[in-house]
Amino acid sequence: MTQAFQKLAAIRGMNDVLPEAGHRWEAFEALIRDWLHSYGYRNMRPPVLEHTRLFTRGIGEVTDIVEKEMYTFTDALNGDSLTMRPEFTAGMVRATIEHNLLYERPQRVYAMGPVFRHERPQRGRYRQFHQIDVEALGFAGPDVDAEMIVMLARLWRRLGLADIRLELNSLGQPDERAAHRAALIAHLERHRDILDEDGQRRLYSNPLRVLDTKNPAMQEMADSAPRLSDFLGEASRAHLQGVCERLDDAGIAYRMNPRLVRGLDYYNLTVFEWVTDRLGAQGTVCGGGRYDGLIELLGGKPAPAVGFAIGMERLLDLWGQSQAPEPVPECQVYIVHQGEAAQRRAARVAETLRDAGLSVIVHAGSAGFKSQFKRADASGARAAVILGGDELASGSAGVKWLRGDAQQGEAQQQVPLDQLAEVLQSKV
Ligand code: HAM
Repeated sequence: MTQAFQKLAAIRGMNDVLPEAGHRWEAFEALIRDWLHSYGYRNMRPPVLEHTRLFTRGIGEVTDIVEKEMYTFTDALNGDSLTMRPEFTAGMVRATIEHNLLYERPQRVYAMGPVFRHERPQRGRYRQFHQIDVEALGFAGPDVDAEMIVMLARLWRRLGLADIRLELNSLGQPDERAAHRAALIAHLERHRDILDEDGQRRLYSNPLRVLDTKNPAMQEMADSAPRLSDFLGEASRAHLQGVCERLDDAGIAYRMNPRLVRGLDYYNLTVFEWVTDRLGAQGTVCGGGRYDGLIELLGGKPAPAVGFAIGMERLLDLWGQSQAPEPVPECQVYIVHQGEAAQRRAARVAETLRDAGLSVIVHAGSAGFKSQFKRADASGARAAVILGGDELASGSAGVKWLRGDAQQGEAQQQVPLDQLAEVLQSKV
């Protein structure tokens, strides 16, 4: 006897997308691809699993992601340490180096798919979520930095989104950050008594992140800390100015946010986030920036790069607030039938209708006409095609219009099978 199986639920923070929402995802993805193609971006699909070292090296040892959010496990078959990607950039760069993609020319590439972070789930924050990841590899900017931001503004317009704002900062270059860091550590040391546990722990390992604190008792200390912008050299300032001028050209408003540091270590110069108040606590829809050192850090020939990622769940949530989802039919034509001969005929007729570009469901199994028509109606089809003994004998099919087309013509008509596709196409 089979043992009873205890019903399982999905893993916390990992959501099912059910058919109704599935359609919205598909429509959204189609729109996104269109938008990416209009800027010349080409698709890449790196694997979900990578060697753990790629992320610890690429994202940085002392980041929330690497310290506590990665799904890492030992491959029991060979002892390798593997990690489910917590973001795309490191994998995209690994693939670029491995396949020598920058040998001939720079590349505009994108990827879309699930990423994994072990965070505390809440609205807009999941353990499996989806990103649209966009990378311009081998471009020094600032033109491409600005183009990416302009491109995002176009997407928000296309989705009809208002209330989404741009925050911008420059992280300068490593030597500028080192000088700033020394000054910052001195500042933090002077306020050591008010640092919380995270602050103490990060004082020397990642002092910049200490300023990212949400702790009210540390705000004043954070506000009065030395600013990186005062340590930027001429080239870094010029780069930032180049980005800002181009944003002004495009009429895109932004707020300079010196506290914007991002949670991944690979950035330099331009960093940005698009934020909204309409999503509760998880309001960052998109984040990105320049990472000129990462390709070399991961073993490639030095090359500059810039990119961003959009959180798809967050953007879909926002899109849903501006656009009521329309119910979507499962098919255009639903075929009902009576008797085995008619059922087999229906399967063949359906294939010819699909040849003509129609989407068709053939009622599966056998049932009375009444319950088949109920299903036809529930499917959202514009027309039901009826195949019974009479129709088979006469080489025709009945066509019943299901969605208010009755007024325009007859509610039901007989159509010779060889004209069926044409008649249906004219109305569905
Ligand atoms: P990120 O800021 O870590 O950047 O993530 C990008 C976006 O993913 C966030 O702005 C947010 O919308 C979404 N996101 C992050 N965590 C979650 C979560 N737990 N649940 C739902 N959505 C989430 C990166 O990942 C960089 N790789 C972006 C990049 C590409 N930089 C350069 N190129």
